[in-house]
Amino acid sequence: LDTVFATGALAGLSVLITAGPTREPLDPVRYLTNRSSGKMGYALARAAREAGARVTLVSGPTAIAPPPGVECVHVETAQQMHEAVMSRVAQAQVFVATAAVADYRPASIADQKIKKDAARRSLELERNPDILAAVAALPQRPLVVGFAAETQDLERNARAKLMKKGLDLIAANDVSGGRGFDADDNALTLLWPGGGTTLPLQSKEQLARQLVAVIADRMGEANS
Ligand code: CTP
Ligand code: CA
Repeated sequence: LDTVFATGALAGLSVLITAGPTREPLDPVRYLTNRSSGKMGYALARAAREAGARVTLVSGPTAIAPPPGVECVHVETAQQMHEAVMSRVAQAQVFVATAAVADYRPASIADQKIKKDAARRSLELERNPDILAAVAALPQRPLVVGFAAETQDLERNARAKLMKKGLDLIAANDVSGGRGFDADDNALTLLWPGGGTTLPLQSKEQLARQLVAVIADRMGEANS
């Protein structure tokens, strides 16, 4: 593992990473969001930088500062994240989607605060673009790495996402019982077409370094 960092296994490469939650406004004072601290994506940005890569982080709102030497583009909504990614992905050799993107946004945004009147209300939602699938579908694409947050059937659901979106690598995360979210520690199951490995419970910083080593390995595989 140390050789990955000592030799700068990602030197000369550009890595684009999404991180954090997205925020989907409902009215001027309310929004829908996902649980995500951004820790995994920021740790990955740091590790990729330390392995010699040029790193751009497209991040939803988080409480953490971008690691040194990492360019950070701040966004709020899934649509903004989608645009920020699509306008930069042509320069990247590796794309990693760690963001907890809201799958849906309110179909309309009220321009005034919604008042409480009716005893019951329903909310119409519209699908957001799938950023990871959009990058994977590009004719000229980087190595594409996704995450999968699952509460059940971790490996089966993650492998289905890997195949369906045509990814090069997926990092599956067991989030049953709220695990993995605000924690500093996590475990990951890594799957790629024809293979896989598990990274046992450890700090997100260490986990990120191991994931970078596997990404460098997959890059080597793709170029051989
Ligand atoms: N993702 C994305 N854009 C979206 C939704 C998800 O880029 N609009 C990315 C996430 O960053 C993650 C991967 O897709 O890398 C999987 O996200 P996940 O929520 O686990 O899966 P979905 O494909 O959204 O499917 P579902 O929520 O129905 O399980
Ligand atoms: Ca989702």
